[in-house]
Amino acid sequence: MNLRFDDSSITVAIVGCGGFIGSHLLDAVLERTRWRVFGVDLDFYRLQHRLNHERCEFLCADLADPAVVERIAQFPLVVNLAAICTPSRYMGEACEVIRSNYDHPATLATACARSGSWLVHFSTSEIYGRTLPDSGELIEDETPAVFGPVAASRWSYATAKLLAERFIAGLPGLKWTVVRPFNFVGPYMDFMPGVDGEGIPRVLANFSTALLRGEPLKLVNGGKAKRCFTSVHDAVDFLFALFAAGSGLPDAGSETAVNIGSKTAPGVFSQAFNVGNQENEVSIAELAGKMRTIFAKVRGVDVSTLPEPQIVSGEEYYGVGYDDSMRRMPSVAKAERLLGFKARIPLDVALEESLSWFVGHYDTGASS
Ligand SMILES: NC(=O)c1ccc[n+]([C@@H]2O[C@H](COP(=O)([O-])OP(=O)(O)OC[C@H]3O[C@@H](n4cnc5c(N)ncnc54)[C@H](O)[C@@H]3O)[C@@H](O)[C@H]2O)c1
Repeated sequence: MNLRFDDSSITVAIVGCGGFIGSHLLDAVLERTRWRVFGVDLDFYRLQHRLNHERCEFLCADLADPAVVERIAQFPLVVNLAAICTPSRYMGEACEVIRSNYDHPATLATACARSGSWLVHFSTSEIYGRTLPDSGELIEDETPAVFGPVAASRWSYATAKLLAERFIAGLPGLKWTVVRPFNFVGPYMDFMPGVDGEGIPRVLANFSTALLRGEPLKLVNGGKAKRCFTSVHDAVDFLFALFAAGSGLPDAGSETAVNIGSKTAPGVFSQAFNVGNQENEVSIAELAGKMRTIFAKVRGVDVSTLPEPQIVSGEEYYGVGYDDSMRRMPSVAKAERLLGFKARIPLDVALEESLSWFVGHYDTGASS
């Protein structure tokens, strides 16, 4: 496979192109390469500025449609970002969540195996399961996963993602790489409830919405769970390091693709990678504190004028079936070893960029 960035004959298929990560990846592909993009999504409202771009073709379609899957699999590189991935939906819509995170990826993977496309599939750090407050680094090919009971339907997402990974890894002939994101943040993430979406968005948009509306930030079960928040720009840099490393390497299953120092290391195919920033670990309560301070700076107000955060129970906030993992610290050694990649953007910088965008985008009077 030769994926030179200056080769204008290459088209990358980005599935879920209209979403948070997809919109950043699209911009980066157009800026850093001469590739064309075949973008698929249910909706492209975030991409108004790109809709007429000469190197883009957008297909507004559902990945559940087999004809759409066949079209996608015609391209040499397929990045699959399509998913239902907001925690509030894991409880009430378990079957839809499983279809989206297992059935659709499995069908797409099967088509890619037939056509020979390289499938870069987005999984999740949730596949490490119900981690504890003292859980150590989560290592891609070593850490065992323990999940909550079936009655805790929050795990519908993680178990579907894990099964999709197992399916992909077991599929003969498929050239694949799995990405496990650790809480990416940045502009364009999710929605503002009642403005351009309904329900409960992920924590960044959730807290940003509350700050803009002058409401208290809700700390589910005290906000004790810890996460390593990672700038979406680092995530895009990871993907470019991956594309570069995958270019010119032998096909799937190769165990001798890359020589690093005196060691022979496996290549980037048939591998799962954590993508996260160890330096950016905070509890959700600490995240709330940082976001209040940064929001006050962005708006030029005194932080003491903002409402204090409020503690709520998980079931009260998300409904029956809520559960959580308490700490998610990625091992980043594999991405560093095989790709020379390390996330660099500090949390405060990522949060200020995200909040500035959120305020600029939604503070039009329509938000209240
Ligand atoms: N953002 C993160 O921090 C994070 C963390 C863990 C995992 N992930 C994974 O990364 C991927 C992308 O996440 P994101 O944050 O960009 O999410 P997102 O919700 O912003 O984007 C997903 C996109 O997929 C589209 N989509 C959903 N179902 C579809 C279907 N049936 N057909 C076509 N399009 C469909 C949605 O319309 C949406 O635009 C997902 O697989 C998600 O599970 C992301």
